[in-house]
Amino acid sequence: MTEQVDVSARAAAIEYAIRDVVVPAVELEAQGHEVIRLNIGDPLAYDGLPTPQHMVDAFKAALDRQDNGYGPSYGIPELRSAIASSESAKGWDCSPDDVYVTHGVTEALQILFAAFLEEGDTVLAPGPHYPPYMAYPQMYGGATVEYRLDPADGWRIDLDDIRSKMDETVRLLVLINPNNPTGNVATSEEIDSLIEIASDWPRCTIIADEIYDGLDFTGRMCSVASRSSSTPVIALNGVSKVYFAPGWRVGYMAWHDPSGTLVAVRDGVERLLRSRLCASTPAQHGFLAGFSDDSGWLEGHRSRIRERMDYCLDRIESIDGLECEAPGGAFYLFVRITDPEMAADDKAFVLDLLHRHHVLLVHGSGFSPEFGNGHFRMVCLPPIDLLAEAFDRIETFLRG
Ligand SMILES: Cc1ncc(COP(=O)(O)O)c(C=O)c1O
Repeated sequence: MTEQVDVSARAAAIEYAIRDVVVPAVELEAQGHEVIRLNIGDPLAYDGLPTPQHMVDAFKAALDRQDNGYGPSYGIPELRSAIASSESAKGWDCSPDDVYVTHGVTEALQILFAAFLEEGDTVLAPGPHYPPYMAYPQMYGGATVEYRLDPADGWRIDLDDIRSKMDETVRLLVLINPNNPTGNVATSEEIDSLIEIASDWPRCTIIADEIYDGLDFTGRMCSVASRSSSTPVIALNGVSKVYFAPGWRVGYMAWHDPSGTLVAVRDGVERLLRSRLCASTPAQHGFLAGFSDDSGWLEGHRSRIRERMDYCLDRIESIDGLECEAPGGAFYLFVRITDPEMAADDKAFVLDLLHRHHVLLVHGSGFSPEFGNGHFRMVCLPPIDLLAEAFDRIETFLRG
C-alpha cells in the first residue's frame, strides 16, 4: 500500500455530528433511496421558509453594480452601523466600532478562540451544545468543559454546576440562547446569575450566542450584554437563522466591554480579522437590507415554524418510546429515547433508522457525549406532510 502522509492531530480530532451523518445518507441516496433529512438547521432546505425577497434583491443589486470587491476587514460601515443600532435596541450601548462582521458566527468563534486561548485554558460551554464549541478550542490549545443543562427541567441551565466548574483557567463562559439543540430560553434571572458568577473571575468573558434570538416563543428572550454592567460580553448573531440566509455566510460579533479589560484581546482579534481580509461584500449588502425592512415577514416565518414544531411535539407525545421537552425557541427538538437498550447507543439508533427507514436524524451524543447521549436531535422545519411521513417511519422503526 502507498505510504500515507500524516494528518495533524488537531484535524484528525475534528467531529461535526450534524454533517458527519450525511455521509451514509448520501450513499443511500446514490443507491436511489429517498432520505428524509432532518439533520441540518437550514430553513432553506424546506418549502415555505425562504430568504426575504427584499434581502435577495439587495444582494443582487450589489452584484449588478459590481460591488464585488474586497471590503473593509471589520465589515462595511453601513452594516456595522445597522447592527450597532439593532444591538442597542436590545438594551445596551453598542457603537459601530464594537461590531465586527465575519463569515458567519462559525468564523467569529474560530477568531475568538484563537485570540483568547492559550495552552491549558478552558471554555465552559453548555452540555449539550452546538458542536464547534467542543471541536475548535482544542485547535488553539484549549479544552471545552461542559456545564449541565437539566433534562428534567426543560434543559434549564444548572447554575450550581457552572459555579462548581469555574476556575482561573476559564477564559470563556458560553451561553447559547435560545439553545441549540435543546431550545431552552434562559430567564433574565438566570442570565443575571450567570453574569454574577463570571464577575468573580476577572479573566473570564461571556460569549452570548444569540443567533436564534428572533425565534423565541416564550417572550422572555433578553440580550446578555443588556444585563451586564461590568463583565465583558461578546454577542454573536448573523444572517443564518433569523434572516433565513445561512448560505450567505455572514455573521457578527458585538463587543460589550464596560470595564475596558479586553483592549489587548481586541487588538488580537482585529489583527486576525485583517489577516483573513473580509466577509463577502455583496452578502453584507443583502444582510443590511434585513435591518431596514420590518414588513412583518418574520412573523409569518415564525408562526409556520411554530405550527410545524407543535405538530412534531404532538406526534412525539403519541409515540411510545419517545419523550421531548417543549422548546422555548429555535427550531430543533432534542428527543429522549426511552427504551434503555436503544438509548444506550444513540448513534447506532440513528444509523439503524437511516438504513432501514431512510430518515436522517443526529445522535444526541454528537452534541455532548456526557449530557446528550440517549437522545436525537431533529429539525422541525419541513412542511407537515413531510414531517408526517418521517414520524410514520420513525414509529414503524420503534415498533421493530
Ligand atoms: C448555536 C449556533 N451558533 C452558530 C451557528 C452557525 O452560525 P453561522 O451560520 O452564522 O456560522 C449555529 C448553526 O446551526 C448554531 O446553532
